[in-house]
Amino acid sequence: MAALFPPWSNRALRIALVVVGILAVSALCFPMVYVRTPFVTNEHVALDQPVAFDHRHHVLDEGIACLYCHTDAERSAYAGLPSTDVCMGCHSQVWNQSPLLEPVRQSYFSGRALAWNRVHSLAEFVYFDHSVHVARGVACEHCHGPVETMARVEKTVPLDMDFCLDCHRNPKEKLGFDAQRDFSAMRTEDGRFPAHTGHAVTELTTCSTCHR
Ligand code: HEC
Ligand code: HEC
Ligand code: HEC
Ligand code: HEC
Ligand code: HEC
Repeated sequence: MAALFPPWSNRALRIALVVVGILAVSALCFPMVYVRTPFVTNEHVALDQPVAFDHRHHVLDEGIACLYCHTDAERSAYAGLPSTDVCMGCHSQVWNQSPLLEPVRQSYFSGRALAWNRVHSLAEFVYFDHSVHVARGVACEHCHGPVETMARVEKTVPLDMDFCLDCHRNPKEKLGFDAQRDFSAMRTEDGRFPAHTGHAVTELTTCSTCHR
């Protein structure tokens, strides 16, 4: 009796099984890799803004400090954006005829705030506080890159969980704290970190530190 399947069908089956196996593993791994790529974390995307505000002119050329405009970064959870009054403090005198500044003048005289588009934005379920980091000497640049060289602000790091934990797991390596400012020195007697926001933080890597 003739064989039901020709001899090569054994090999065909084995190859087919290997291909299915590879596809199954890739189907699982692809999304895990993909969500960590800059496509998903929105790195290096410059947004259009209501005014062509350029950090290079203001920070490099004019030497204005970050905190002059992002005043709250030192004392609150939010760095905040400057109000139109801050811009007009200079632009009622300098470049006060510039067409590029027309939206700023309109905002000033109408009292309607400029609607800047957000570049950095964490998911709702993550708690972040600027003042805590700024007070411990984490530079703006560590999380935002060299903003003073950007015509339009873009995200330069993923700002995902890995990024945060990378430092929280080993702050000494990232920040080079000296012994006085080492974490152990910051612990209270019961071994906790001081709670800046009334929320007890036992370890900087505990889930509830960032997910409250
Ligand atoms: C401390 C003073 C100061 C403040 C505050 C300031 N600017 Fe300026 N701005 C300048 C100077 C000076 C220039 C010209 C810089 C140059 O060309 O190098 C300028 C240039 C500009 C220009 C380009 C104008 C043109 O015609 O080329 C825009 C747009 C602008 N500023 C927007 C803003 C906005 C928006 C704010 C508020 C968020 C602001 N500036 C706050 C001093 C200031
Ligand atoms: C003259 C005022 C001014 C100064 C000085 C200034 N900024 Fe800004 N910054 C702005 C304005 C206005 C925006 C909103 C428009 C934009 O995104 O470009 C902004 C946006 C940003 C953003 C993006 C915010 C978001 O939507 O996520 C970051 C980050 C930032 N600034 C960091 C810095 C740093 C770091 C410095 C100092 C090196 C600095 N800024 C100096 C006015 C200023
Ligand atoms: C440890 C990381 C880190 C450091 C250091 C840091 N930022 Fe941020 N910044 C963030 C994150 C994360 C967001 C988004 C926050 C959110 O979505 O709630 C943000 C948002 C912002 C925004 C948008 C407005 C806001 O308040 O959400 C501005 C402006 C800004 N940062 C400026 C600064 C400046 C200026 C400094 C230095 C004085 C600084 N940041 C230091 C991580 C950091
Ligand atoms: C370069 C280092 C560094 C990076 C990056 C960093 N942190 Fe921190 N973070 C610290 C240090 C240092 C402290 C401790 C401050 C203290 O105890 O005084 C801290 C404390 C905290 C706290 C506890 C503060 C409180 O108010 O209870 C939270 C929440 C936090 N970080 C969230 C984040 C998030 C979210 C990110 C990522 C977007 C991040 N951190 C990135 C260094 C970092
Ligand atoms: C230092 C701060 C920090 C700590 C500690 C932390 N997370 Fe996160 N987590 C984040 C940030 C930042 C994101 C990304 C949010 C975003 O995409 O905007 C995130 C995202 C997540 C997500 C959504 C999936 C993802 O990867 O984006 C889950 C689930 C999660 N965290 C669980 C946990 C668990 C469980 C723990 C404790 C083992 C933990 N986190 C500890 C900061 C933290």
